[in-house]
Amino acid sequence: MNLQNEYQRLNQSNIEWFVLLVGSDNCVLDEETRIHYGHDETEDLSFPPEIVVKPSSTQEVSKIMGYCYEHTIPVTPLGARTGLSGGALSIHGGVGLSLEKMNKIVCIDENNLQVITQPGVITQVLQEEVAKLGLFYAPDPSSKGSCFIGGNIAENAGGPRAVKYGVTKDFVLNLEVVLPNGEVIWTGANTLKNATGYNLTQLMVGSEGTLGVVTQAVLKLLPLPKHNLLMLAPFSSSIKACEAVSAVFKVGITPSALEFMEREAIDWTMKYEEVNLVVGDDVEAHLLIEVDGNNQDVLFQDCEKISEVLQEYECGEIMFADNESQKEQLWKLRRRVGEAVKANSIYKEEDTVVPRFELPKLLAAVKEIGQKYGFKSICYGHAGDGNLHINIIKGDLPESRWMNDLPQAIRELFEFTVSLGGTLSGEHGIGYVQKAYMPIAFSEVHMTLLRGVKALFDPKGVMNPGKIFP
Ligand code: LAC
Ligand code: ZN
Repeated sequence: MNLQNEYQRLNQSNIEWFVLLVGSDNCVLDEETRIHYGHDETEDLSFPPEIVVKPSSTQEVSKIMGYCYEHTIPVTPLGARTGLSGGALSIHGGVGLSLEKMNKIVCIDENNLQVITQPGVITQVLQEEVAKLGLFYAPDPSSKGSCFIGGNIAENAGGPRAVKYGVTKDFVLNLEVVLPNGEVIWTGANTLKNATGYNLTQLMVGSEGTLGVVTQAVLKLLPLPKHNLLMLAPFSSSIKACEAVSAVFKVGITPSALEFMEREAIDWTMKYEEVNLVVGDDVEAHLLIEVDGNNQDVLFQDCEKISEVLQEYECGEIMFADNESQKEQLWKLRRRVGEAVKANSIYKEEDTVVPRFELPKLLAAVKEIGQKYGFKSICYGHAGDGNLHINIIKGDLPESRWMNDLPQAIRELFEFTVSLGGTLSGEHGIGYVQKAYMPIAFSEVHMTLLRGVKALFDPKGVMNPGKIFP
């Protein structure tokens, strides 16, 4: 297999073919708009496609893929481009295949607690539609107000609630996929269990658009929990806050969210968003903890038990959100950290994940490595999952240090993460920006297997090239 194909640049006849298929309104050629489609939320990277094509049906996606495959034109599937690993960057130009027109919820099946959806549906829209029927789609990435279900599937997105309910993969039952050569398959069945052959559904989830284009998804739903309680606990030691995390689970409680935020994560976000919160001078970090369920008394008992555990780790005065608007404020504070950091400085984001008991060791190592190389970092994330988002801040560092020393610092950080039984990314994916580090997580034998899978699906390497593989 030669993944370094000589890709064909688009010519006039290719462009005419796309226009004939989907209409000129659904083809973008002007430079300004292509540049808009050429970035996601990953740093300041920009790789515009040569054309953006917006199909409206599986059949159109199939025809586009068949054509591009035949002509060796690279195709990058595009969702809402909220990704943080560069999965939606059109590294080799070619076609940016935007799924934004395929934005229908096909059917909500109340008898089986399932929803069939197209990929361009915004995650929060799907959540709200099923909630009207008392149903629950749990995965809730911070970008849920704008990200697409298709992108969530491509990156196996998580979010705060993953700690109790699981990530996107745990809700995907069956997928309609257009393969790189244009053929269409359903990967599984609309069932909760399936022991029939290799699990192509789960192979597709998290494959970052490198194996095919998801054109429909059958997702599992749950009954909507009736109540939740939210508490914010301050700590004068970040490490103690991280130590408290696994202790909560040890007393038999699984919160529906258990988030960690360093002091500066909150300070920077409060500069960016209007949130009223007074943070004491000695506070180094917070845990934001939510419990949910159908029996409010049980939830109050859970909170009491959690408070007792947190006291053992020297937590300060816990604040309980009294009403919906307070809950919303606290969640806004948490969900906007990423944007706030981005607005403040050039930064590089890592998405390390370890078994949750190892979290304090990971945080300590982040700070140690940072000190050794002179990098400041702001950490936050899904502590209950052992998933730490590490934002390394450029600040006043000279360009040469940023370019030369940073990759080595990140390498050290990943090596340590893997030594703890962890891995490079918990929910943001490898995409374009983490691919050089893949050999830290995987042996050559493992990498050969991954390359073999890619070659089987996409022997010409047209499907989202430049991702995952170093
Ligand atoms: C979050 C995104 C960055 O947790 O994953 O806010
Ligand atoms: Zn996250």
